[in-house]
Amino acid sequence: PQYHPAGDIIVLDRGEGTTAVIHLHGATVLSWKCHGVENLYMSQSAVFDNKKAIRGGIPVVFPNFGPWPLGPQHGFARIKRWSIAVPPRKDANGDVIVLFMLEADEETLAMWNYKFRLVYTVVLTATSLMSTLVVHNKDVKSLGFTCLLHTYLRVADLKHFRIEGLQGLIYVDKLKNGKEKKESREFVTVCKNYDRVYKDAPKRLNIVSGPEPVRNIELVTFNFPDIVVWNPWEEKAKEMPDFDDDGYTEMICVEPGKVLVPITLEAGQQYECKQTLICQF
Ligand code: BG6
Repeated sequence: PQYHPAGDIIVLDRGEGTTAVIHLHGATVLSWKCHGVENLYMSQSAVFDNKKAIRGGIPVVFPNFGPWPLGPQHGFARIKRWSIAVPPRKDANGDVIVLFMLEADEETLAMWNYKFRLVYTVVLTATSLMSTLVVHNKDVKSLGFTCLLHTYLRVADLKHFRIEGLQGLIYVDKLKNGKEKKESREFVTVCKNYDRVYKDAPKRLNIVSGPEPVRNIELVTFNFPDIVVWNPWEEKAKEMPDFDDDGYTEMICVEPGKVLVPITLEAGQQYECKQTLICQF
């Protein structure tokens, strides 16, 4: 995909083939390579017009997960241009850190009349990618929101993919009118159109895929109690112009969020939430 207009992307390079690429449109992480192996899925037909949400990587969903009467699906954070609050720098360990910011403007106030500030920190270490979102209420009134990191993981072969750690959880099946069910499987696999929100998930989950290349990722979360697992499968993939027809065989979205029960922030308060993806070798 073409995403290279100068000034639009930030590259974090930790050396030894460990890199992350972030687009200012949506502060979307486009790529995360660990020792040369790409861990994120990016659609070949993704659109980089600084308008549409980027199909792949890690779009930031705020202030609303899902369809939204006040604005676009999944809110506006993923389609706004973020600013760089602190440019990339290396710390004493060689880890690379960058901070992005998004604040209310005329356009956001017109659809959602709250003053806010989002600070999004991305840290690249030798084996992990840490993404921290802090929502600040800068208004004089309370505000409510949901948020999520829409992480598109690259899977070498969906047949080998599984998530460990969801057994026993209640999930909301978005494809069955939000019907709730209990997950009975120790290893959650996906072989059809899948759109479920797992409630009160453990703070550590293992995501296994492979075998060539082996991608085992530990997902660690903070203040993201819900985990959305999404794959559009064949038919729905074809309906999305920016999604490759066979892309569904190479990806799975595992999306940590705070989506089932919105957060209310009083004036001046903040909410911090975080996902860490850790490569297991
Ligand atoms: C997931 C939702 O998070 O995102 C799905 O659970 C939705 O319902 C998917 O289809 C993709 O959304 P969008 O707006 O990026 O096409």
